[in-house]
Amino acid sequence: MKRLSLLVALIIIVTVSLSEARIKTKGRGEKMNFDADSIQESFKPTFNLMSVKCIKCHTMERVVIAVQTGRAPITGQPFNKQAVKAYGIKMLRKPNSDMDKKEIRDIVVFLNYVLDENQK
Ligand code: HEC
Repeated sequence: MKRLSLLVALIIIVTVSLSEARIKTKGRGEKMNFDADSIQESFKPTFNLMSVKCIKCHTMERVVIAVQTGRAPITGQPFNKQAVKAYGIKMLRKPNSDMDKKEIRDIVVFLNYVLDENQK
């Protein structure tokens, strides 16, 4: 019995510490996005920018899933820091992307931060 409660306590501790480090998400399907409350204050402006700029052609679900699974959902390519930069440029070059280099740079830095937080 003692062993079991110890095990349960351990599982709770591990789950709590994992969920603390991760950037939380909110909503499902089309409404899915990172949870603003779990984002560091200094990154909030970029998060807001991304939430406007990156939903022009698809929803944020695509980006959230890429970060969470480490795989880009359409092509199945790895989604790591190198890939984030490449995708940033790819999205920038799409016709009517309505973004400039500075915005993409900020969003790439932001997504690297999210990837880092999720690896803790
Ligand atoms: C002009 C339209 C457009 C905008 C704006 C746009 N995307 Fe995309 N995105 C696409 C299309 C089309 C695809 C489908 C796969 C492809 O062409 O790469 C895609 C796919 C993706 C994927 C999945 C790629 C894969 O290989 O599975 C990610 C991640 C992504 N976009 C992130 C972003 C981010 C982050 C932004 C904002 C900086 C953004 N997108 C803005 C058009 C856009």
